[in-house]
Amino acid sequence: MQPRVIAPDPSQQTRPVALAASGLAKTFRAGFWLNKVVTPLRDCSLQVYTGETFGLLGPNGAGKTTLLKTLLGIIRPSAGTATLLGHTLGEQSVKARIGYLPENPYFYEYLTGREMLTFVGQLFELDRGLLRKRIPELLDLVGISGTASDRPLRKYSKGMLQRIGLAQALVNDPELVFLDEPMSGLDPTGRHQIREIIMQLRTQGKTVFFNSHILADVEVICDRIGLLVQGDLVSCGTLEDLLGTRKFYRAEFVGVDPRQLTHLLDAIEQRGERVSGRLRIEPQQLLDQLPAGATLLELKLERLSLEDFFRAKVQQHQGRVLDT
Ligand SMILES: Nc1ncnc2c1ncn2[C@@H]1O[C@H](COP(=O)(O)OP(=O)(O)OP(=O)(O)O)[C@@H](O)[C@H]1O
Ligand SMILES: [Mg+2]
Repeated sequence: MQPRVIAPDPSQQTRPVALAASGLAKTFRAGFWLNKVVTPLRDCSLQVYTGETFGLLGPNGAGKTTLLKTLLGIIRPSAGTATLLGHTLGEQSVKARIGYLPENPYFYEYLTGREMLTFVGQLFELDRGLLRKRIPELLDLVGISGTASDRPLRKYSKGMLQRIGLAQALVNDPELVFLDEPMSGLDPTGRHQIREIIMQLRTQGKTVFFNSHILADVEVICDRIGLLVQGDLVSCGTLEDLLGTRKFYRAEFVGVDPRQLTHLLDAIEQRGERVSGRLRIEPQQLLDQLPAGATLLELKLERLSLEDFFRAKVQQHQGRVLDT
């Protein structure tokens, strides 16, 4: 059967779409008698554009891996549809154009790193000559040295397994790469390297979709971010869409007697202006309120951090779900 190609809808977006999900949901039956229903994913709709790096955030158990596996066709959705590179979910032909690093990769541990990459390349039916050229490049890219690449995988550290996992996800030179927690188990240098590799993939025009808990990495490398909480995609957009451009001052001072503190806070409260749950006050007005002997240590212009945003959204959503 000819694969069904879905043309992008020009009225919706001018940017080419690499991945589009509409109303995706997944329900599992769990428990000994399979009488418990678990819904890790609910009505999820999102688009990832060609060439962008998209980071999916969410607390443990939010449904990130479930969404990723559903998009990859590893698990079947209970509802909804999706397209990958213009093809409907589950079409085999598209798999050759996709790379995937699973959350807990399991590899044949008696194979060496080099043999494992060759094995994966052969699964993709890649030409031997091409593999001979590509494998050393990939080993170099992920920082697995010559001697390490000839050691069996059972002798690899967790970080090395993660790197070789990333290399196998790139063996077929994919257009769209799915990475489930690519920084997991890596030390700061390793994390930095993986970040660099993801940024390099972007410069090559690849589309990257990855799950992560590490907000700092997401903040640096993602074009857009999605936040999944208890199976619901509660936010999706650029960092600016999510955090806004509003800035505020953070003040740190010493020399305020604890008894004066309530008075000081009251005075600031009275002079400030409440904006979206935060108090806004002009720096001079703040200084005017400081009691004698108090010293302002630091006054810093800040923006809402991704961590603040993440915590607030998760709390808000969890509260809402408990209320209903
Ligand atoms: N096959 C399954 N059967 C029953 N429940 C499942 C199954 N797979 C996942 N779940 C449940 O779905 C929920 C979401 O799991 P998922 O692995 O997608 O979360 P996650 O966001 O990737 O979490 P983490 O950050 O810990 O990797 C969890 O409560 C999990 O127990
Ligand atoms: Mg997961």
